[in-house]
Amino acid sequence: MVSIKVSKRSGPLASGVAFVTGGARGLGNAIAVSFAREGARGVVIVDINQETLDEGKKVVESYGTKVGLHFQPRSRARKMLIWPHAKCLAVQADVMKEEDVEKAVKAAVEEFGRIDYAANFAGVLGPATHTFETTFEDYQKCMAVNCNGVFLSTKHEIRQMMKQESIEVEEGRAPQRGAIVNCASVNSIMSLQGTVPYTISKHAVVGITKAAALEARDHGIRVNAVSPGFLLTQLLAERVTGEDGKPVGLWTGFEARQGRQAKFEEVGDVVVLVTSPRMSLVNGVNLSVDG
Ligand SMILES: NC(=O)c1ccc[n+]([C@@H]2O[C@H](COP(=O)([O-])OP(=O)(O)OC[C@H]3O[C@@H](n4cnc5c(N)ncnc54)[C@H](O)[C@@H]3O)[C@@H](O)[C@H]2O)c1
Repeated sequence: MVSIKVSKRSGPLASGVAFVTGGARGLGNAIAVSFAREGARGVVIVDINQETLDEGKKVVESYGTKVGLHFQPRSRARKMLIWPHAKCLAVQADVMKEEDVEKAVKAAVEEFGRIDYAANFAGVLGPATHTFETTFEDYQKCMAVNCNGVFLSTKHEIRQMMKQESIEVEEGRAPQRGAIVNCASVNSIMSLQGTVPYTISKHAVVGITKAAALEARDHGIRVNAVSPGFLLTQLLAERVTGEDGKPVGLWTGFEARQGRQAKFEEVGDVVVLVTSPRMSLVNGVNLSVDG
């Protein structure tokens, strides 16, 4: 007879509250959707763009329902499980401004009581100029969003998480008051011509992550980074598509490096997994998500 081992780990992977900057579209929105699909009771999307925020909120809420079959160990029956819609709160905020980041965290806590998982994905590409021709203004703008924005978000998320009790974790595991995932990039490890502010800002994200991870672990909080490869979001589309909207040569090279086209949700799902308390010993890493 075949024995069936019943996993104690069935059910929602992330039943708490997610907070995603840059959550209106692109990878941030895919992360918000992944949290909704994994059973998050609340998803907060934070973005500078009110128009895309409205659209992004609808997308997240439309993915909130999860229906599945759950194995009942005693009766050996399968019961239909219905996880309700995730509630999505959309907050307009500019991550370059500390008061906006504080406001967004406060709004999340007023609505849902806490923040269990945070993903800092608000970002810009910056200028395509070489170092000798890059204006200081363009450099500063890119750093302000990608570097300062991640620093400010990490800072205020940690401050909130420090006030919270741990979520439920398995016996013997370290408590988890919160988990943060910062968005780096393949440009945090290598570079390309014409990406100097972007490359600097993404290297800085790894620095912020490592420093914060060492401090936050004393408070039961993990801070990691992920480095996505090449995904054809709006951020890249304007740089790598021709007048007909189709990808040009540069993009073919990117995809060749990655080996294939990637789906946004392949990044979203990794972020959910990294915030899970099952990853309790993973802290301060920069995880490549690039095929
Ligand atoms: N697309 C890729 O291939 C790729 C690869 C590696 C890393 N990334 C990173 O992923 C993150 C998300 O990028 P994406 O590709 O989804 O692009 P995207 O342009 O679709 O999304 C970026 C989001 O950030 C928001 N944003 C920009 N400035 C902001 C600010 N000051 N305050 C609040 N929100 C702001 C935008 O409105 C937008 O919704 C970025 O950090 C980017 O560097 C993307």
